[in-house]
Amino acid sequence: MTRARFGVMGLAVMGANLARNVASHGLPVAVYNRTAARTEKFMAEHGGEGDFTPAHSVAELVAAVEKPRAILVMVKAGPPVDEAIQEIAPHLEKGDILIDGGNSFFGDTRRRCAELEARGLSFLGSGVSGGEEAALKGPSIMPGGSEAAYRQVEDVLTTIAAKFDGAPCCTFIGADGAGHYVKMVHNGIEYADIQLIAESYDFLQQALGLGATEQAAIFQEWNRGDLDSYLIQITAEVLAKQDAATGKPLVDLIRDEAAQKGTGKWTSQSALDLGIPLTAITEAVFARFLSAQKEERVNASRQLRGPRGSRNREEGLVDAVRDALYASKVVAYAQGYEQMTAAAAEYGWKLDLGAISSIWRAGCIIRARFLDRIKDAYGEHPDLPNLLLAPYFRDAVGSAQDAWRRVVSLSVELGVPVPAFSSALAYYDGYRRERTPANLIQGLRDYFGAHTYGRVDRPGAFHTRWAQDGSEILVED
Ligand code: 6PG
Repeated sequence: MTRARFGVMGLAVMGANLARNVASHGLPVAVYNRTAARTEKFMAEHGGEGDFTPAHSVAELVAAVEKPRAILVMVKAGPPVDEAIQEIAPHLEKGDILIDGGNSFFGDTRRRCAELEARGLSFLGSGVSGGEEAALKGPSIMPGGSEAAYRQVEDVLTTIAAKFDGAPCCTFIGADGAGHYVKMVHNGIEYADIQLIAESYDFLQQALGLGATEQAAIFQEWNRGDLDSYLIQITAEVLAKQDAATGKPLVDLIRDEAAQKGTGKWTSQSALDLGIPLTAITEAVFARFLSAQKEERVNASRQLRGPRGSRNREEGLVDAVRDALYASKVVAYAQGYEQMTAAAAEYGWKLDLGAISSIWRAGCIIRARFLDRIKDAYGEHPDLPNLLLAPYFRDAVGSAQDAWRRVVSLSVELGVPVPAFSSALAYYDGYRRERTPANLIQGLRDYFGAHTYGRVDRPGAFHTRWAQDGSEILVED
């Protein structure tokens, strides 16, 4: 019997498609699913596509794969991953490699790495992006964990990954949870990108009265310029789709309640832990929460008054929205990248932000032309403190800012909520300020809590007896 080069445990759509992807490159693959019927269905539908060995137990799966074994676990994130590991680990031998390709929480991946390492096994927590289609034809892959283990499966992972200009969209990200962390930030950026697109759509509809079909053409046009990206491209397709039953744009018939599986929320939670102002992604998460409060919104819509402003027919607003979208997107990425830098320092990872940008250029959901520019920016300055300071983006945002301000102020006037546009602009204005009003915050904190403040003219920590004699004391040198 030929031993399989690779094993896949979990044959729901992502696992099945990744197994098919591996086999399509001529590599023998052993496949296993807890519910045997799924393995049989997989073999009936795809068995003829390549060299597959169906396994009916984990023991059979392990026996079918050549040593050192590389087995991809594709089960639902959370406890099912631990259950799968518990089930398979006793059958594995020293040096075998388990790869978790789901959207696992990076903290869990750190723990699993340590646990498996203690048992002499290797673990890779790998982000896999691009959905079902990419899983089959070429996803972006973000592996983290044991570098030595990665080197042993690098040939398989780079073979099945998407290619950009011939280069595989897969690179070793860093130790333990780094791969899942970077995938989490990818998803957070995905939330921000989607929210910015939704705000553009809302503004074009509310302020300019443009319907879905007219907007489809606008997004298609935007996709030919700097905004060229997968998400803009599929926005044009979603907006153009007509409902077969009613003949109306399908998007108008979709309920306005956004779901989420949690990776965006994790990104924001981690930013809070690290002290990073991740405003655009976090506003995107909050906007989904607000959208889900449908009943309350319907009730409030009947009671709360908005402005009297009406639609605006000013010239050039469509282009202004495009510029606002672009500038806000740069801010969302700048914040996400700053978060990755902070996480690298916190968790002891060496994250190569240029390489990460490279593997996001194809295969993943946020793939976009402008990632090439980000890759260049970090290529030229690996220690860039903020993407907004890279000359290309500094100039691009500088030229877009008038349009951006116009869209945000008109939105405020008309009562169109644009939380991601406006928070990104507020961040931009806050970040470029040499002096913020935090001096007053410190004064107030010192007044009510004697929390002390620093002075601009002398070192040390000071406290003023504000409500007593008004004298100032040096608390700490
Ligand atoms: C990807 C996607 C993928 C998934 C998201 C959806 O990179 O392929 O990000 O991981 O579609 O998790 O997330 P929500 O359900 O939270 O929107």
